[in-house]
Amino acid sequence: MDRLASVPEISIIIPTFNEKENVAELVRLVAAAMAGISWELIFVDDNSPDGTARTVRDLAATDGRVRCIQRLGRRGLSSACIEGMLSSSARYLAVMDGDLQHDETLLPKMVDVLRHGDADIVVATRYAAGGGTGDWDARREQLSRASTGLAKKVLHVELSDPMSGFFAIERDTFLGLAPKLSGVGFKILLDLFASANPPLRFREIPYEFRSRQAGETKVDGMAALDFATMLLQKRIGRFVPPRFVYFCLIGGSGLAVHMVTLWLSYQVAGVGFAASQAIATAVAMVGNYTLNNIITYRESKLSGLAWFRGLFLFCLACSVGAVANVGVASYLFSGGTLWVLSALAGVLVSTVWNYAATAFYVWRVPNSAR
Ligand code: GDD
Ligand code: MN
Repeated sequence: MDRLASVPEISIIIPTFNEKENVAELVRLVAAAMAGISWELIFVDDNSPDGTARTVRDLAATDGRVRCIQRLGRRGLSSACIEGMLSSSARYLAVMDGDLQHDETLLPKMVDVLRHGDADIVVATRYAAGGGTGDWDARREQLSRASTGLAKKVLHVELSDPMSGFFAIERDTFLGLAPKLSGVGFKILLDLFASANPPLRFREIPYEFRSRQAGETKVDGMAALDFATMLLQKRIGRFVPPRFVYFCLIGGSGLAVHMVTLWLSYQVAGVGFAASQAIATAVAMVGNYTLNNIITYRESKLSGLAWFRGLFLFCLACSVGAVANVGVASYLFSGGTLWVLSALAGVLVSTVWNYAATAFYVWRVPNSAR
């Protein structure tokens, strides 16, 4: 008689980017730690250049408990975790780093807590008695503590380590929250807590963050921006998308760039006014495009040939915006509206147009993520 293959009790989601050297050891350690519990490992790899996905697939070929999701053309720790979790049918889900810095022997303890049913989520914490941040330097430690404090204040999350990338949650609880997640950046746990209403019932287990043996960290300056984006998303995201805020701020800085360039060209270098104005416009446009590519659309950043194509489309879209701007402003002005208000209305219309058009045509961001 056929027996149905059983579903594991827990899926452990491992986001990876350039972790080829670590995955085999990770599978070995998890297998050793999880004796007596049925489990599977789901690696979610963002097409790492070092070929992590191939290595995982090779392991999966001889071990059915290992799976690989390979994402093309996308980056992001949080979104990788979310997709991995959505692909699971297990009762419990865990998220753990793929670089051996998280202590896998916590996993059975997490399962134990969830089985008892008095917590929806179990979080491994570095900031409680018995935990620690390993060999982090003072700067990284300070940064982590500062953002932890900010997260507690702004989002009213009572966790000792809301930035932890190591936790386990009931699948049904996760599924209930998934549609509300922002999915931006690194802070998947914070995202879950900030999205939950009523608040999640949690338990914390302290652990010592290990030092990295192979590969390198991907948490860089951009992580701070991701963090800011998430705070914005949770506080004002219902009214304005954080991306639109960045787009406007960059647009504003473009005005300053324009005026400085104009001044340099017209006043200092003595070039004619019309030519200077044209040069300033070009410089401001390229500047705006570059900054939006690095900041606003960092998760779909264009490079190589696509960068030039994007620049062309960006300038094209903004030219249409400029025509609309002048059109709307002149129309209102001729109808008797105060000149300042006419101008502002023109600027508003062109800004919204530029934002929507460039999101769609230049960075090709799908509707829901805008
Ligand atoms: N799929 C995918 N896509 N995985 C990624 C990406 C990405 O864009 N960026 C990083 N990862 C994977 C790494 O390969 C690793 O397995 C895990 O996510 C954590 O990344 P690290 O780069 O090692 O992060 P860290 O050790 O510096 O930071 C740790 O502490 C932070 C708290 O301060 C992590 O645990 C973070 O999750 C945590 O927020
Ligand atoms: Mn790490």
